[in-house]
Amino acid sequence: MSEKIAFTKLTEADHEPIARLLHRALVHWYESRLGQGARFGDHHQPFALFPEVYEALDPGECVTARSDSGEILGVCFSHERETHIAIGIVATMPEAGGRGLAKKMMACVLDKAERVGKPTRLVSSLLNLDSFSLYTRLGFVPGTIFQDMLINVPEAGLAVTPPEGTELVRQATMADVARIADFEQTQQGVRREKDFAFFVNNQVGSWRLLISESADGSVSGFLGMSMHPSCTMIGPGVAKNDEAGTALLWRALDGMRGRSIVFLAPCAAAKLVKTAYAWGARNVELHVAQSTAPVEGAKGLVFPTFMPETA
Ligand SMILES: CC(C)(COP(=O)(O)OP(=O)(O)OC[C@H]1O[C@@H](n2cnc3c(N)ncnc32)[C@H](O)[C@@H]1OP(=O)(O)O)[C@@H](O)C(=O)NCCC(=O)NCCS
Repeated sequence: MSEKIAFTKLTEADHEPIARLLHRALVHWYESRLGQGARFGDHHQPFALFPEVYEALDPGECVTARSDSGEILGVCFSHERETHIAIGIVATMPEAGGRGLAKKMMACVLDKAERVGKPTRLVSSLLNLDSFSLYTRLGFVPGTIFQDMLINVPEAGLAVTPPEGTELVRQATMADVARIADFEQTQQGVRREKDFAFFVNNQVGSWRLLISESADGSVSGFLGMSMHPSCTMIGPGVAKNDEAGTALLWRALDGMRGRSIVFLAPCAAAKLVKTAYAWGARNVELHVAQSTAPVEGAKGLVFPTFMPETA
């Protein structure tokens, strides 16, 4: 069988097949390997948010693998930013797995990265040896390890005293977007102003972006949140230290009362992780940042997310 593998401008008609593909691939992989397929729900519809958001944010940057008859057998979302190319979810149909489709789709993105002279970054599950191996075979180097923490926030909010610094957190506006991008670049060596503008504009999906400022007015952190019912998740974010990270996290959780939320916390941020346990968070998975060229001397705490990715 010969598949056509190429960057594609997704049409509205592609959204549903891609949602079905993502749902099937995840349910199949997590059920057959870990007996955890049920965590992705019993309907593909929530996964339509991925093509909707990515096509709005980065038209034409999704790589698809299509059969001769035009059926989508694989997808690999990518997004070029100022400093790097990020790769989003990669998935192949279960019946098309193990014959190199994911590798070929990734190769398209890596070729582009080489052409434009930028490193490629992604977040990879540590429970999924197939994807971990796929990425490291292609030259990605694992870095920071994250624990995916699930927390149920009661309707009345978390029954804890707000941590110090929550009064320094507020909702970001368009005037903050460049400062937030500057801050991330100083801390982490990556820049992606477009994502922050997308959150503040809030036209596709449902986003909120928080900013934390020190007493002198400088940025000490930021944290995005997806409020969409199809994807309730905290991230992306970066904080200067545990205190700023904890304050941002508390404010984000407080804004999502009555929901179950997942966030990824760096395992090395021991103080923040301990606080999250005290708030009732439980570990549900582990992820690792992978890059073709890790940034030397990155500082601060990162809260990655699955849409749109950072690491
Ligand atoms: C992960 C996934 C995308 C892989 O797709 P695929 O089309 O089967 O992958 P490919 O056939 O292109 O390549 C897999 C590569 O990993 C290698 N690999 C897999 N498991 C490995 C292991 N344990 N050790 C070493 N290499 C391994 C394979 O050998 C192959 O490399 P090779 O061709 O050089 O031998 C697919 O299983 C999937 O859709 N999973 C569900 C969705 C998901 O979890 N996505 C990743 C999270 S974002």
